Amino acid sequence: MGKPVINKGLEGIYMTESRICKVDGKAGKLYYRGYPIEALARHSSFEETCYLILYGRLPTRKEFDRFDMLLKKERALPQGILDIIEETVGRADVMDILRTAVSALPAYDPDAYNKSKASEVRESVALISKLGSIVATIGRVSQGEPIVKPDLSLSHAGNFLYMLNGRRQGTEEARLLDTMLILHAEHSSNASTFSALVTGSTLSDLYAAVTSGIGTLKGPLHGGADSAALKMMNAIGRPENTERYINRALAGKQRIMGFGHRVYKTYDPRARIIKKDLESLQKHASKEVRRLTAIALRAEKMMVEKLGKTHNIWPNVDFFSGPVYTAIGIPEDLFTPLFAVSRVPGWCAHMIEYWEDNRLIRPLEYYTGKVDREYVPMGKRG
Ligand code: CMC
Repeated sequence: MGKPVINKGLEGIYMTESRICKVDGKAGKLYYRGYPIEALARHSSFEETCYLILYGRLPTRKEFDRFDMLLKKERALPQGILDIIEETVGRADVMDILRTAVSALPAYDPDAYNKSKASEVRESVALISKLGSIVATIGRVSQGEPIVKPDLSLSHAGNFLYMLNGRRQGTEEARLLDTMLILHAEHSSNASTFSALVTGSTLSDLYAAVTSGIGTLKGPLHGGADSAALKMMNAIGRPENTERYINRALAGKQRIMGFGHRVYKTYDPRARIIKKDLESLQKHASKEVRRLTAIALRAEKMMVEKLGKTHNIWPNVDFFSGPVYTAIGIPEDLFTPLFAVSRVPGWCAHMIEYWEDNRLIRPLEYYTGKVDREYVPMGKRG
């Protein structure tokens, strides 16, 4: 048999059909269940978007209120999860703590291994709600502050900020965060969704699938790019250093984090929305946020001129996120965990959809090593 065609990184391979999300990489369009991302970012809330992603349609008022109440009921964390957080904060990366806490959740869910669709949806609601509480609590404990109980009168985004900072923040910050959550909620078969599907395709459970997704999201080529991009902006330091820094980085064959995408070969529509939000918050922004914004805008202009049209490398969702999160008061080590808080509805919806017609995911690899080697006992090896 000759060497088969190998699609490194599974590029260009369709592995399933899905009704959840369309990413049109040529036109720079993104749809959740048929709705353009721009409309959802402008008019929806994260909670409503979660309903849409999970159920495939927008809820009526009554359906929304019930769903919202179920989400709120799941916000509190069991003592065992709080203990894991307190034990591990400061000793491991926040994404590792989040992954560990999520993988321990079945211990507190008596119905965790029930494979009915109703139970999978219930677990999805629990995961969406609890991931927010877990990440906010990790952030709180990291600051050496006492744990804050959830406030059920607040939205998911508002409660996240409350549990993180111990005080109710302005509605503008909660709105900005809500938009960020919507923009990151779903993105077809990205690396973390794919790894969740690989885990679930063995007929493992939803908690295990989401745990796999978190492990995959951590890497700097995927969710970790948001904090890597902010680190770069801080390394640039002053806006006037931007061009020199980027030129040097590109000459040294370094990747500029927050640029490029496997599917988008044009401007990522999510990055456009985040950029607009960032520009509109400048009037009341701190000096630090204005500095980051100036660097980001100079870097974006330069990269678009240098690599946009010629190499199809454009800003992606992670590029402008750092300055926006900084404006909301979110520390850099929570950026990627917040990406997980946003993406959990996407992971769950894909898993539930895939289980409707499950097939074990098991690709091939082309072996290039030796065969029939002679086994030499250890004592006779040179
Ligand atoms: N800066 C400089 N050059 C780049 C970049 C970048 N950010 N991204 C790609 N390239 C170059 C790369 O060096 C390669 O050049 P050459 O052909 O000369 O070797 C060419 O473009 C193709 O790169 P690739 O890695 O084969 O392309 P890919 O489709 O596998 O990469 C990517 C997609 C996201 C991994 C890549 O663009 C990248 O590493 N970007 C930086 C990390 C990042 O921002 N990730 C977040 C992605 S969006 C959020 C998410 O959904 O996860």
